[in-house]
Amino acid sequence: MPELDSPQRQAPDSLMLTGFWYRALPADRVHRNQLHQAMLLEIPLVVGRDRAGRPFALRDACPHRGMPLHCGNFDGENVECSYHGWQFDAHNGQCELIPSLTADQNLKVDRIYAGSYPCEEQDGFIWVYIPDPGPPGAGFSAREEAPDPAPQIEKSGSLGGVPEGAPKKDKYKLAYLTADMPVSIDHGIIGLMDPAHGPFVHQAWWWRSRHSIHEKKKNFEPIPNGFRMSAHTPSSNSAPYRLLRLYADADSITTTIDFVLPNMRSEIIRAGKYWFSSLTTVTPITRNRCRIDVVAAWNIFHWMPFGPELLKLVFAKFVEQDRRTMELQAEGLKHNPHLMLIDDADRPAKWYFQLKAAHLEAKRLGREMKHPMAGPVTLRWRS
Ligand code: FES
Ligand SMILES: [Fe+2]
Repeated sequence: MPELDSPQRQAPDSLMLTGFWYRALPADRVHRNQLHQAMLLEIPLVVGRDRAGRPFALRDACPHRGMPLHCGNFDGENVECSYHGWQFDAHNGQCELIPSLTADQNLKVDRIYAGSYPCEEQDGFIWVYIPDPGPPGAGFSAREEAPDPAPQIEKSGSLGGVPEGAPKKDKYKLAYLTADMPVSIDHGIIGLMDPAHGPFVHQAWWWRSRHSIHEKKKNFEPIPNGFRMSAHTPSSNSAPYRLLRLYADADSITTTIDFVLPNMRSEIIRAGKYWFSSLTTVTPITRNRCRIDVVAAWNIFHWMPFGPELLKLVFAKFVEQDRRTMELQAEGLKHNPHLMLIDDADRPAKWYFQLKAAHLEAKRLGREMKHPMAGPVTLRWRS
């Protein structure tokens, strides 16, 4: 996609990227010995926890005749289909039992698999790895393992993950918010990275009005699979920033915001030994539906009785404003209007499309991704 100064036509293709981890369900909604339905990238899943609490994810369709497996029984180890009672290992999907077989029928039961997916619990969510689709007609075989562990929220230090085995520097708290949005993944991501809607969508008397709009200038740099808004003093309109001001000098507070394919926005605000970190994802459920999940972690507000609740309320309000906006936008999108991306405010959205295209191209050619950004860039907009 060329960089143009003029408004650019934009046609999101809503393509959902495979070969990545996605958040499936909040961990506190998935109980031991129970089966729960979930959908990711139009793939129906049955998610559960075994007797020991370890999560698993299977394709919600029996390989025998397609019966949804969530209708079956689960004994904490094997999932039993409700139609003919075939049993599958919850973790790897391997068939354990076909009740109709007689003693002299030697069908190799253990060569049959229900579709299964790598599954991990991380920071309050059950994550599922969605691999690239196999060749057509490949059927049901042992699953592909994920190349990396599920993403984590940065909990101290710099963005990029706490090194393996490193001690957790602080005790911290965790909270999440989730909202369904009736738009494609692309519109969900554009909304997530859009700096210009704030004064219009996120107005509140105690917060800001459209009159607080002012010019901003931010530096961006390429990072693997994404881009970073370089460390800077957060916008005075940022909620955690306002609270952190109670702890530290305004100039000692910095924030770094990353966007990384396929769908992650992470932000960490640091003020000396205190930090507030969030990992927001927009997850494709179907071609026309996505879900936003915000998970925040922080080591501040120990003394503030209402700190976390207050913050959760503020975030809930923001997420609801975004959700409502996208619900209305979906009305407009029904009739395929022409759309555009303008500079500089929509440049992050342009980078998202370019990253997605570069990622697909690299995969097609089986080589390293060529990053669409040549180097650091400064963007200016009013918000
Ligand atoms: S459809 Fe599941 S056992 Fe037959
Ligand atoms: Fe927003």
